[in-house]
Amino acid sequence: MVAKLTIENVSHAFGSPGGRRALRVLDDVSLSVEAGEFISVIGASGSGKTTLLRVIAGLESPSAGAVLVDGEKRSGPGGKMGVVFQRDSLWPWRSVLENATFGLEMRGVNKAEAGAKAMRYIEMVGLGGFETWYPHQLSGGMRQRVNLARALTIEPDILLMDEPFAALDAQTREIMQLELTRVWRDTGKTILFVTHQIDEAVFLSDRVVTLSARPGAVRATTVIDIPRPRDLRTKRTPEFQAYVGDLWELIEAEVMKSFNARAPAAPASTGS
Ligand SMILES: Nc1ncnc2c1ncn2[C@@H]1O[C@H](COP(=O)(O)OP(=O)(O)O)[C@@H](O)[C@H]1O
Ligand SMILES: [Mg+2]
Repeated sequence: MVAKLTIENVSHAFGSPGGRRALRVLDDVSLSVEAGEFISVIGASGSGKTTLLRVIAGLESPSAGAVLVDGEKRSGPGGKMGVVFQRDSLWPWRSVLENATFGLEMRGVNKAEAGAKAMRYIEMVGLGGFETWYPHQLSGGMRQRVNLARALTIEPDILLMDEPFAALDAQTREIMQLELTRVWRDTGKTILFVTHQIDEAVFLSDRVVTLSARPGAVRATTVIDIPRPRDLRTKRTPEFQAYVGDLWELIEAEVMKSFNARAPAAPASTGS
């Protein structure tokens, strides 16, 4: 059976300001994600997690390698993927409902149909009754729920999430982790979740992919063999703590490397 999502030998470099040097950000990343799987990608800040997500979403084209969905090479954004970014990107002048229907409107779906679909997902993320509210009237957690509802409304097969809970307080973050697990279970989506929080990755995932310091390469893939459903007590079990400890050890050296990393050296001067 072909994987839902295949990342095939993806490398990426950015030109430096002035364009003389290249910053290598991703180094030969390969990863295969099965339909319905929940995968997290962890790595130090600057290891290329967001870049990887943008490449998968088709917002950035990689210097080398390819992204396949259902075995077919994709180019450009859209299609079967929904994206949730760290910063909520809601339109302040649109209500919760109007934010959620935006993607469908762009695809030419009529207002009534778009509204009915959006309402289903607004309710699924626990915001039923808030559909006429505006973003400034909502808490950070509620805004990220709207973001999630908006991504779900286009009914993508794959959800890409880039540190969606990073700006939330610790308690709200834990509630959102539980809610996301429920939404994942109820919808059967394939989820690729980027975070730098190791415990969040272990709690949510079937597998955790650890990236090395820049340029990000796959350092390890860890199967999280903890039964589901998981709840907040799961985080206090010795097996959970053991996974977190192991991943910390794996990533610690990479974090140190990334602290010591420099911008790429200037080409050797040939003049005076
Ligand atoms: N558009 C861009 N142009 C140039 N460099 C970029 C761009 N986006 C990201 N980078 C660089 O790529 C590296 C990885 O960034 P990013 O993918 O955001 O890492 P992470 O999400 O893991 O923190 C960083 O060093 C960053 O400076
Ligand atoms: Mg990032």
